[in-house]
Formats: sequence, structure tokens, C-alpha cells
Amino acid sequence: MPRARKTVLCIAIGVAGVFAVVLCYRHAYSNRATATHVGIKMCRKCHESDGIGNQYKIWSGTPHAKAYQVLAPNNPRAAEYGKKAGVANPQEDVRCLRCHTTGGGRASETREEGVGCEACHGPGSLYFEFSNHASFDNREAAYRKAVRLGMYPIIGIEGIKAREKLCLHCHRDERPCYPESVEEQKRQRLSLSIIANFIYRHPIRR
Ligand code: HEC
Ligand code: HEC
Ligand code: HEC
Ligand code: HEC
Repeated sequence: MPRARKTVLCIAIGVAGVFAVVLCYRHAYSNRATATHVGIKMCRKCHESDGIGNQYKIWSGTPHAKAYQVLAPNNPRAAEYGKKAGVANPQEDVRCLRCHTTGGGRASETREEGVGCEACHGPGSLYFEFSNHASFDNREAAYRKAVRLGMYPIIGIEGIKAREKLCLHCHRDERPCYPESVEEQKRQRLSLSIIANFIYRHPIRR
């Protein structure tokens, strides 16, 4: 085969390869766009069981469970941040709810739960049923299926990059409630080691 045609052929195969990878990737993650939030009461039905580690109880004791409550008008800090941001009622304004509730305050049924399960694990409408995300025989296969159905791949050490991105999406400096004191800024910064050793751990694998 002449050299020029060989080159063209190689390029064509290369381009086709890239397309194939992009298509597979888009297929694997396309359900993210269609899944919606079902609310923590759906997860609680099963995840309040001690048999699988009672993630609901552990979560209830964390600040994430109070993230909506801290926006209440009787909390002077919320009122102060609200005033600075030009927000009249933080509990009703997406500029605060964006990071203080599951789903950013867009749906009324998840608005008051704070930073619930689906805020970190992904919208559950397609995976929340047992057969779509859990299996007692093949955990890896069940997890892969769940991820295809919208679960965020933040679990374990292999999920560390996605997890970091998730945490820092809310825990960043550009927010109306970012503290002014340098000491408090330092205290509030999430280091990679905090993210890796997620201090409100509720695993079932180990
Ligand atoms: C019908 C019961 C049921 C419901 C409803 C349910 N789960 Fe689960 N889930 C389970 C069981 C059981 C397991 C663990 C199975 C095992 O040990 O392999 C599990 C596992 C998980 C895992 C770990 C996946 C893995 O591969 O490590 C996550 C994350 C999870 N559930 C999140 C949720 C969220 C978020 C919701 C709500 C949107 C939810 N679950 C609703 C029963 C349920
Ligand atoms: C980009 C995400 C984001 C937005 C938007 C946001 N917050 Fe926050 N907020 C956070 C995070 C993360 C924390 C936890 C910081 C920590 O303690 O490490 C927090 C903590 C708080 C706290 C408790 C800690 C304290 O300093 O008293 C209050 C009150 C608060 N935010 C109010 C608000 C109000 C009011 C708005 C809207 C005007 C708002 N937040 C918008 C992410 C956000
Ligand atoms: C602030 C984010 C966050 C919230 C909120 C949250 N989780 Fe998690 N969850 C994680 C992270 C991160 C891990 C992975 C921990 C690890 O791999 O060590 C995890 C692990 C899990 C696991 C175990 C996965 C495994 O294979 O070990 C289950 C089950 C689970 N979460 C269910 C829930 C349920 C149910 C809720 C709500 C009651 C919830 N989570 C709320 C971040 C969160
Ligand atoms: C949807 C936004 C959101 C996500 C995602 C999120 N957080 Fe938070 N986090 C908050 C808010 C809001 C608060 C403050 C709640 C309060 O003060 O009641 C908070 C509080 C905390 C606190 C307590 C801070 C303190 O001052 O005591 C820690 C630690 C924390 N988050 C760790 C994490 C980690 C680790 C992840 C990722 C696995 C994560 N968060 C993901 C919004 C979020």
C-alpha cells in the first residue's frame, strides 16, 4: 500500500477509535441526566437497618443533616450571610439552597432534608430499588450497574478523584457564607486527607 494511503487509513482508524471511546463514555454516564431525586425517606427504608450499617443514623448525627436548618431566619449567622448576599430568606432562595439541600432546592420533597444521601450518591430514581444497586453475591457488578443508572462513582479509593470534586463543589471559597477570619478559613478548608478518610464514614464494604 502506498505510504500516503497508509497514513490516511491510520488516521481514519484513529478517529474512529476516539469516536468509539467518546460514545461508550457518553452511554455509560447518560443516565445522570435523566435520573431525579427521590428523597431521603426512600433510602431510609432500608439504610436505617443495623444489618447493613445504619447509614441513616450515622448521617443524622452529622452537620449535613442540619444544613437546611442552619439557614433558618432565627440563626443570626444565616441572616448575616443572607443580608450580605442580598438574600431575604435563605431557606427559600436557591443561592443558599444550592449547597444546603439535596438537589439544590429545586424540588419541594428534598428541600428540607439538608445535604442528604442523594446529594453525595447521586439522584436515585433509577437505582434506588434493591435490584438496581445492591447485591449480596456480586457487589462489584451491582455497583457498576448503579453507576450506569446515575449513582456517583465516589466510593472507595478508586472513586477518590470524583469524591474530591463532589466535596469541593460545595466546600469552596466562593460562597456567601465563606468566613472572614483567616483562622476560620483554614479550619473550614477540606484537605484531601479529610476527603479520603471521610470523617462521617458509613461504609459496608470494610
Ligand atoms: C430496598 C432497599 C434499599 C433501598 C430503598 C435503598 N438501598 Fe442502598 N443498599 C441496599 C442494600 C441491602 C445494600 C447493600 C447490599 C450489600 O451488602 O451488598 C445497599 C447498598 C448501597 C450503597 C453501596 C453500593 C456499593 O456498591 O457499595 C449505596 C451507596 C446505597 N445503597 C445508597 C442508597 C441510596 C442513596 C438510596 C436512596 C436513593 C438507597 N441506597 C436505597 C438496600 C437499599
Ligand atoms: C457553594 C456552596 C454554598 C453556598 C452557595 C452557600 N453555602 Fe453556606 N455553607 C457551605 C458549606 C460547605 C458550609 C460548611 C462550612 C464549614 O463549616 O466547613 C456552609 C455553612 C454555612 C453556615 C453554618 C456555618 C456558619 O458559618 O455559621 C451557614 C449559617 C450558612 N452556610 C449560610 C449560608 C447562606 C445564608 C447562604 C446563602 C446566602 C449560603 N450559606 C450559601 C456551602 C455553601
Ligand atoms: C457528604 C456526602 C455523603 C452523604 C450525605 C452520604 N454519603 Fe454515603 N458515602 C459517602 C462516601 C464518600 C462514601 C465512601 C466511603 C468510603 O469508600 O470509604 C460513602 C459510602 C456509603 C455506603 C457504603 C459503600 C461501600 O461500599 O462501603 C453506603 C451504603 C452509603 N454511603 C449510603 C448512604 C446513605 C443511605 C446516605 C443517607 C442516609 C448517605 N450514604 C449519605 C458520602 C456520603
Ligand atoms: C451539596 C453540598 C455539599 C456536599 C456535596 C458536601 N458537603 Fe459537607 N457540608 C455542606 C454544608 C452546607 C455544611 C454545613 C452544614 C451545617 O453547618 O449544618 C457541610 C458541613 C461539612 C462538615 C462539617 C464542617 C464543620 O465546620 O464542622 C464536614 C467535615 C464536611 N461537610 C465534609 C464533607 C465531605 C468530606 C464531603 C464529600 C464527601 C462533603 N462534605 C460534601 C455541604 C456539602
